[in-house]
Amino acid sequence: MSSELAETQFAAASQQTRAAIEQRLQDLLTEQSPGPETIREALDYTLLGSGKRLRPLLCVWTHEALAGSKHEACVDVACAIECLHTYSLIHDDLPCMDDDDMRRGKPSCHKQFGEAIAVLTGDALLTMCFDIIASLGERRGLSDQTIVAVIRVIAHAAGSGGLIAGQVLDLVSQRLEPTVETVEEIHLYKTAALISASMEAGAILAAVDDETRHRVAQAGRMAGQAFQIVDDVLDVQTDVKTLGKTPGKDAKVGKLTYPALVGVEASRHRAAGLIEDAKARLGECADGSLLGALLDVLVKRSK
Ligand code: IPE
Ligand code: IPE
Ligand code: MG
Ligand code: MG
Ligand code: MG
Repeated sequence: MSSELAETQFAAASQQTRAAIEQRLQDLLTEQSPGPETIREALDYTLLGSGKRLRPLLCVWTHEALAGSKHEACVDVACAIECLHTYSLIHDDLPCMDDDDMRRGKPSCHKQFGEAIAVLTGDALLTMCFDIIASLGERRGLSDQTIVAVIRVIAHAAGSGGLIAGQVLDLVSQRLEPTVETVEEIHLYKTAALISASMEAGAILAAVDDETRHRVAQAGRMAGQAFQIVDDVLDVQTDVKTLGKTPGKDAKVGKLTYPALVGVEASRHRAAGLIEDAKARLGECADGSLLGALLDVLVKRSK
């Protein structure tokens, strides 16, 4: 492959993979969660039809870049990660957290269904993530060892030593020392941990050696940090229609963010540098691949 993937080729592949993820999410919701009508409605509302699906794409394309082929189980794992990510957004928006009224271009879950149902919808999605992965033996013939490895990586990234740690630090960020080190630590936990796990899960399914898996996880952390820096920049620069969530929110509540510390230009520069580092860490498999092109999109995106 050439080192630059044609834009049209990338756009077509993104559309196709997103459509496959969308379809699978819909099927999984039907298969995994009968449940009462209210929760079913809230699950459909939050999970289906919107969201950039960046973590699923990272998972699937990391796998493809390393294995050189597609794997049905990888789409399931990608969807499981999207369930977990969607839970984190629902809880992040709650009045006791960021208190955000808009998500993915519509009223956030608690605005639409009330706080109690929003908490429960998040709980259901978090649980569903692990249910989907645990069923991959029956469903796709995945070995127990692989299933456990994927569960551990995702659970570790999502737990109190990962995403939750980041959310806790983020909540008290106004009271922390306002340094680049502090903000990078918050980003590493609240966002980069899950982005890294999405890529590492793809690597596990590609059955790579430990050294490669470690490199992928490191690259994922850099990509995740870049992604959150850009999220902070977009909060400053983008309108509500494009963003699909309330802009200007971070400054309003005095959140410790990258642009607040070093300005927009230096933030974008840092994000671009991190993506270059991530690609260098991945080496050949990022070169001219869908994965490499997607890493660029993480920092070039407008929403
Ligand atoms: C938003 O993630 C939360 C962050 C970690 C910054 P995304 O920007 O990937 O949100 P969706 O999934 O596209 O809505
Ligand atoms: C969210 O960070 C990280 C999560 C774990 C959800 P933000 O609070 O900046 O995400 P947005 O801007 O609300 O999507
Ligand atoms: Mg938040
Ligand atoms: Mg938020
Ligand atoms: Mg944000």
